[in-house]
Amino acid sequence: MTAQHAPAQHELLRFLTCGSVDDGKSTLIGRLLYDSQLIFEDTLAAIARDSRKHGTTGEDIDLALLVDGLEAERQQGITIDVAYRFFATPRRSFIVADTPGHEQYTRNMATGASGASLAVILIDARKGVLTQTRRHSYICSLLGIRDIVVAVNKIDLVNFSEETFDRIVGDYVTFAAGLGFRSVMPIPMSARFGDNVTIRSGNTPWYHGPTLVQHLEEVDVSQDLGARPFRFPVQWVNRPNLDFRGFAGTIASGRIAPGDQVVVAASGKPTRIARIVTADGDLDAAEAGQAVTLTLTDEVDVARGDVLVRAAERPAVADQFAGHLLWMDEEAMLPGRSYLMRIGNIWTPCSVTSIRHRVDVNTLEEHAARRLSLNEIGFCNFSAGQAVPLDPYAENRATGAFILVDRFTNRTAGAGMVAFPLRRASNIHHEHFTVDKAARAALTGNRPMVLWFTGLSGSGKSTIANIVEQALHQAGRATYALDGDNIRHGLCRDLGFTAEDRVENIRRVGEVAKLMLDAGMVVLCSFISPFRAERRMVRDLLAPGDFVEVFVDTPIEACIARDPKGLYARAQAGEIRNFTGIDSPYEPPENAELHIPTAGRTPEDCAAEVLDRLRAAGVAV
Ligand code: ADX
Repeated sequence: MTAQHAPAQHELLRFLTCGSVDDGKSTLIGRLLYDSQLIFEDTLAAIARDSRKHGTTGEDIDLALLVDGLEAERQQGITIDVAYRFFATPRRSFIVADTPGHEQYTRNMATGASGASLAVILIDARKGVLTQTRRHSYICSLLGIRDIVVAVNKIDLVNFSEETFDRIVGDYVTFAAGLGFRSVMPIPMSARFGDNVTIRSGNTPWYHGPTLVQHLEEVDVSQDLGARPFRFPVQWVNRPNLDFRGFAGTIASGRIAPGDQVVVAASGKPTRIARIVTADGDLDAAEAGQAVTLTLTDEVDVARGDVLVRAAERPAVADQFAGHLLWMDEEAMLPGRSYLMRIGNIWTPCSVTSIRHRVDVNTLEEHAARRLSLNEIGFCNFSAGQAVPLDPYAENRATGAFILVDRFTNRTAGAGMVAFPLRRASNIHHEHFTVDKAARAALTGNRPMVLWFTGLSGSGKSTIANIVEQALHQAGRATYALDGDNIRHGLCRDLGFTAEDRVENIRRVGEVAKLMLDAGMVVLCSFISPFRAERRMVRDLLAPGDFVEVFVDTPIEACIARDPKGLYARAQAGEIRNFTGIDSPYEPPENAELHIPTAGRTPEDCAAEVLDRLRAAGVAV
C-alpha cells in the first residue's frame, strides 16, 4: 500500500455522497481515494486494464471502477448497495458511504445517510437540479444531516462556466431554503480530472472557495452529543453470576459518572450509577458513543429495551406518536396494517393510524394520501403495541429513529423519525371490570371463541357459517354471526374494496369480534379477508386458542361458475373494480386451523366437518 497517511487517531468525519445516476459519485470517491493515495498498486493496474474493457473514459483510468467493485454492478453500469470507504488526510479521517442513485434504491440512500453528519450532493453541471437531487436532499434533512456540499460536477463539460454554476447554485439554494441545513457549500468540480477536489483548479479562476477536501477537513460538524440529555438504551442485561448485574449498551447522548442519579425512562424508578465497567477497567465518567456496562446501586427492574435517563430529563413515554415515514418497500404501506417496529432496543407491533399528509419531494408540498408507495414519504400518526420512551428525532437521532419491518418477509419496509408524542393516548387508561370473560362464559357454559371463515366471494363461507351457527345454537351455545355483506351496511358502510379499505374493514371487525368474544360468545365471522397480514392481526388481538381460522377453499373457477350474486360476471365485464380473484389478490392461509376444501361437497357436509373437528379439538359441543 502506498498510504502516506496511516489511519490516525484524529477526528473522523462520516459523510455520504448522493445524486442521480451518472452524476459521477463513484468517480468522485475514486478520485478522493486516488488522490489520498490509499490505493493498492496492483489494484491500480487492474483498473487500468478494466478501464479499457468496461470504462467510459477511453484510455484514461476510470476511477469509478475503483468503487464499483463488483463485476455484476460493472456490467449493469450501476452501483447497487451502500459501500463504505475509508480514507484519510493529515488533518482528518473519513468514512464515506457511496449510495446508489437509481430511484428504487432510496433505501440504500437512507441507510447511508443514517450515521453520516455531512452529505455531498452531486449535480451534473449539464443537467442541473433534478428530482433525485431534491429527493436526496429532503431525505438527508429528514435524517438529520445539517451540512451539505453541493458538488456541481462535470464543470469541464460546460466549459467551466461561472454562469451555469451560479444558476444551479441559485436553484438549489431556493429549493433547500426550508430544509433547515446549517451549512451549504457549493463547489464547482470535475471529479474525473480532479478540478477542485484536492487541488485548486486553474480552470475556475472565478471560484474563491475551498476545494472539496479542504472543506471536508475544515467544516465544523460537531454535534456535541455529550452535552445533550443522557440516554442509555439497554442492549442486554449482563448477569454472569448472582453478584453481578450490569446493563450493557452504548451511550446515545449525554454523559454519566458513578454516583449520578438516573431513572428507568418508562417506570420512573430512581437509582444511582454504581460503576461504569469496560473491558479495560472501570471508568470515572463516560459519554455519548462509548459502549459500557453500567451497574446500579439498587435492585430496580431493568430489562433489555429500557432506557436509563436522568430524572429531570425524562423523555416522553407513549404508545402513540407522530412522525415522518420513508417507505422503502415494493408493497405499499397501508394504514391499519400491523408491522413490527424497532425503536432503540425495543421491538413491538406498530401500525399507522392515519397519514396526515404525503410530502411531494419535488415541491415539498403536502398532499392527502391513503397509502405510501415505494420511495414515498408521509407524515403519519403511529400506534405501537406498548408505550416506548421516545425523543423527537431532531433532538436525538438514536432515540427518535425507528424502523418498520414487514412481518412476513422480515424486510425493513420503512424508516421513521419521531416528531412528537400524541398526548391524547396517555390520558386514556384501561378500566377493569370484575365480571370478566370467564365469569360470563361460566354462566352460560359457553366456550367463547372466534371462528374466522375466509375464502373467495361465493366460496360458501356464509352458508357454511350459518349451518355451523344453527348447530351450536341448538346445542345451547351463545353465538353471533358477523358477515361481510351485513357489516358493510352499517359499521363499515363508509368502506369500499381498495386494499386500504379492506385493511380497515378487517381491523374494525377484529375489534368487534374481540368485544363479542369478551362478552362470552362464539363469534362466527365470514369475510373474504384476502390479506394474511390482517388475518394475523386479528389472531394476534386474541388469546392463543381463541382464534380458529377456517379456510373455505373453493377454486375460483367454481366460484365463477356459481356466482350467486352475479358479481363475478360484472367484475369480468369491468363493471366492478378491485374484485377479489379477478383484479385484486387473495392470499390463501398457510396455517389455518381448519382447511375445508369444498369441491364436490354440500355445505352441510362441510359444516359437519367443521363441527366434528371442533369437537375433536375439545372446543365445541
Ligand atoms: S373484505 O375483502 O373486506 O373481507 P367483505 O367480506 O367485507 O370483503 O365483503 C365481501 C362481499 O362484498 C362479497 O361477498 C361481495 O358480495 C361484495 N363485494 C362487492 N364488491 C366487491 C369486490 N370488489 N371484491 C370483493 N367483494 C365485493
